[in-house]
Amino acid sequence: MVFGGAVRLSLYRKKAWFNNLNKNEMGKKVLILSSSPRKGGNSDLLCDEFFKGAREAGNDVEKIFLKDKRINYCTGCSVCSMYGKPCPQKDDAAEIIGKMIAADVIVMATPVYFYTMSA
Ligand SMILES: Cc1cc2nc3c(=O)[nH]c(=O)nc-3n(C[C@H](O)[C@H](O)[C@H](O)COP(=O)(O)O)c2cc1C
Repeated sequence: MVFGGAVRLSLYRKKAWFNNLNKNEMGKKVLILSSSPRKGGNSDLLCDEFFKGAREAGNDVEKIFLKDKRINYCTGCSVCSMYGKPCPQKDDAAEIIGKMIAADVIVMATPVYFYTMSA
């Protein structure tokens, strides 16, 4: 998790992390979820830097800017929790969940707004 409000990711640690990410010489599938409403804002810039580093290290990287997606509110219908079935809503969530399941590494970046992270 990368917090746009209080980032403490030193360049040294970042480099070490990328090297570790690619330790097995096989590119990993990395999914970056950029959750700030501000495209090009602090969290999103961190995502872009992470994207570059992870790709340079030979990984297969994708960033999703969540505000560009249509994600409805949960209606509490319980289809998923009670019956283990996919969400009946026809929004972009299913596609994103599929990508999360397929990813080896998921990076979630959020600004801190009013003491908490993005919903
Ligand atoms: C509406 C709003 C609420 C914020 N609330 C907090 C907060 O509670 N704590 C904090 O440390 N920073 C807070 N900040 C500062 C942001 O976390 C900070 O500017 C962050 O880098 C913004 O990220 P972004 O450019 O990705 O949106 C707030 C900023 C905004 C605009």
